[in-house]
Amino acid sequence: MRCRKCGESAALELRRHNAAFCVPHFTEFFRKQVREAIHHYRMFTPDETVMVAVSGGKDSLALWDVLIEEGYPTVGLYLDLGIFDYSRESREKCEAFAAARRQRLLIERVDAAIGAPIPEVQKATRRPTCSACGLSKRYLMNRAALTHGFVVVATGHNLDDEAATLFGSVMHWQTDALSRQSPALASTHPKLVRRVKPLYRLSELETAAFAFLRGIDYIVEECPFAAGATSLAHKEALNRLEAASPGVKHNFLFGFLEKARPAFERGQDVQLTECASCGQVTTGEICAFCKLADQVKRRSTPLTRSSGDPSQ
Ligand code: AMP
Ligand code: FES
Ligand code: ZN
Ligand code: ZN
Repeated sequence: MRCRKCGESAALELRRHNAAFCVPHFTEFFRKQVREAIHHYRMFTPDETVMVAVSGGKDSLALWDVLIEEGYPTVGLYLDLGIFDYSRESREKCEAFAAARRQRLLIERVDAAIGAPIPEVQKATRRPTCSACGLSKRYLMNRAALTHGFVVVATGHNLDDEAATLFGSVMHWQTDALSRQSPALASTHPKLVRRVKPLYRLSELETAAFAFLRGIDYIVEECPFAAGATSLAHKEALNRLEAASPGVKHNFLFGFLEKARPAFERGQDVQLTECASCGQVTTGEICAFCKLADQVKRRSTPLTRSSGDPSQ
């Protein structure tokens, strides 16, 4: 195998691109894909500070690495979910990454915001853990960006993540989710910051290779609650299809973004207002995060509940 660019011995074969690259040309290919994503969706400009939501995993740290190298002003945001050793180790990875590159890292504790760490939140609600966790992450990313005055949040979602989400939404024909699935979501309210996914053109394998080649120390373990998640089953199904016909995952996602998404966008103009409790953006009176926090509070104070609210 020879590098497509220079003809030297290739280190990596990318079957869906029908190409192979040496190490320097692979890292260049990777950065070019990120540049194209930023440019195509006008994700941010060089004078906007990007808040990069980092989990300590390969994708978000690879993204932060590229943005720093490309010269964008950045700040990291780590949300401490309170998931035992997993959270402690992933936080340490983010702190070490930020310190080595002299970048600012903001840390928010989920238990301080919602009243309990994620494993307790799960016990207090009937929601699957990942759903309460995802909701909390989106809420806290937005709130942190607003508090610190940043206009854009970038996450490390890659092609596999996006294709699996799309697959799940199609399986249930969740048209509202389909209308929102995009590598860039504009700010449609003064209290809603722009959300972007600059790695959507790169596969999980490619981000893992990039992180390895750049010497990024990331947490390899998955979140202990991820096992059995339907998103993993969707990823496996897509991987089997991809192995049989390379490029199918890419066509699925890119075909949707180019040809189908506009049809779902129409008629999805939801009215956004401010939550009566916390002031963040919601479609109802009280936002989903405040409802979740309230459930957690009720569960953890049974005495107050029984004496204070006769209807319970
Ligand atoms: P996940 O939902 O775990 O697949 O993560 C998707 C993206 O969300 C990651 O690439 C990060 O950008 C962001 N993210 C996930 N977990 C955290 C966290 N604990 N703190 C900050 N950002 C996170
Ligand atoms: Fe949220 Fe696993 S990271 S439940
Ligand atoms: Zn080369
Ligand atoms: Zn609220």
